[in-house]
Amino acid sequence: MNIKEEMQKRRTFAIISHPDAGKTTLTEKFLLYGNLIRNAGTVKGKKSGKFATSDWMDIEKQRGISVTSSVMNFEYEGLHVNILDTPGHEDFSEDTYRTLTAVDSVIMIIDGTKGIEAQTLKLFKVCKMRGIPIFTFINKLDREGKDPFDLLKEIEDELDIQTYAMNWPVGMGKRFKGIFDRERDQFIRFTGNELEEAIAKEELQQQQDLIQTEEFQAAAEEIELLNEAGEAFDIEAVQQGELTPVYFGSALAPFGVETFFQSFIAMAPQPFPRKASGELIAPEQEAFSGFIFKIQANMNPAHRDRVAFVRVCSGKFERGMKVTLARTGKNIKIAQTQQFIASSRETLEEAYAGDIIGIYDPNVYRIGDTLVQGSDTYEYEELPQFPPELFKKVTVKNVMKSKQFRKGIEQLVQEGAIQLFRSLRSDEYIIGAVGQLQYDVFEYRMNNEYNVEIVFESIGERIPRWLKTEQVDKKLFDERSLLVKDREDNFLALFKNDFSLRWFQDKHPSIELIDLFEVN
Ligand code: G4P
Repeated sequence: MNIKEEMQKRRTFAIISHPDAGKTTLTEKFLLYGNLIRNAGTVKGKKSGKFATSDWMDIEKQRGISVTSSVMNFEYEGLHVNILDTPGHEDFSEDTYRTLTAVDSVIMIIDGTKGIEAQTLKLFKVCKMRGIPIFTFINKLDREGKDPFDLLKEIEDELDIQTYAMNWPVGMGKRFKGIFDRERDQFIRFTGNELEEAIAKEELQQQQDLIQTEEFQAAAEEIELLNEAGEAFDIEAVQQGELTPVYFGSALAPFGVETFFQSFIAMAPQPFPRKASGELIAPEQEAFSGFIFKIQANMNPAHRDRVAFVRVCSGKFERGMKVTLARTGKNIKIAQTQQFIASSRETLEEAYAGDIIGIYDPNVYRIGDTLVQGSDTYEYEELPQFPPELFKKVTVKNVMKSKQFRKGIEQLVQEGAIQLFRSLRSDEYIIGAVGQLQYDVFEYRMNNEYNVEIVFESIGERIPRWLKTEQVDKKLFDERSLLVKDREDNFLALFKNDFSLRWFQDKHPSIELIDLFEVN
């Protein structure tokens, strides 16, 4: 098979959701379809701890994070599916955001009993700013949840994206009868087990026991409303991330999951051309190229191994290949490679656009680096800086170690492990993160790699807003609008809460405040 055909088979996506919405349950079903696992319940037992096979850094062992499941891949109906994991809970970090730069589409799971929750909203914003196509699965229909129209409205209002219901639920919870598949014009009856009985629209008249039910009558009216609203399904709008196809179902039952997966995979985009040094690089071009979106440090404390995760953007990657690191122009032979399948890391021999590979990092790579076959040195666009939400002042416990402390911080900041800010008043170091995990990793590595003990002082959750000016009157800022500088010496204010942000805006309308989610 040639490079173009291989590339066209790739479907690379991430699943985003708030914890407990059903991501693990849904992912497991996908892996079953891909024959990657035989039984549900084997991907990770958060409670049973089945997946504690990771031998990566201690901190991950303690938390039971399964790094090996960062990327799962399998064949499905002639396609090569790559699913990238986006960790949630306290494992949430900037890596979670960066992972989204390496996918071609996203599945967003919403718990139908709860609607949109905080973490979904954050991850969604990243998808929106990158223009990534989003497919929505509204889960837990087997439970009494919110009204389907209200859910669609919530998505449209809160996420500012159009919706198109691909199917429509008939009842929910105990009264759940099934879904009407608008795509194929058929009803799928919920029988309480995994069997999904499809009934063509014309044959529904013969199912009087069903169509006479209150739930069916109500759903028929609702579908009528949807049809009358008459918005046509627009695949281009989906591809541009402006419209999300919405599917209802239950990951646990499972119900509507396989039809969802089939419909999604048929529409999910293959790798698209990506911008590098102002040009578009076609994924089917002969020469391999890719960029590093994540670096996993210290997997083996004895060797201080690091693995760089590369998203292949073009051509064919082969183990042993010589590539140029565009940032430095240095030639590197890539001999040690890994691919990540559900429960193991295997040596990888070749990969194509859309695939994710892990390469051994002898401490030369940085997040955002481009690797190119041959001597070309074009670079993929810089990964965006994501606004942190948590901020802590950090100091060294033993001042005699100040030098190592500064060196450690400098390197970890450069690596993208954390973000560094300097307070203007006291010149203190302030570390910004999007999740608690980043602090834990930071502390662990400062301890283990730089032999420095650090002390944190929390300044709580903050809302960062960059200032669109180089001249700043320091007197306008106080503890509720802490003025700091980022690494590039840009000013930003860390607002204590929404109230202090709005108060400041009202008081100083001439100072333009920038939300990073809006500009990237
Ligand atoms: P996550 O990865 O997004 O955090 O969610 P996960 O799949 O672990 O699901 C969270 C909980 O929701 C689990 O229950 C799971 O069984 C349940 N769940 C997932 N999909 C559905 C669904 O379609 N319907 C219903 N009713 N429940 C669903 P748990 O009791 O917290 O965990 P477990 O002991 O079952 O693993």
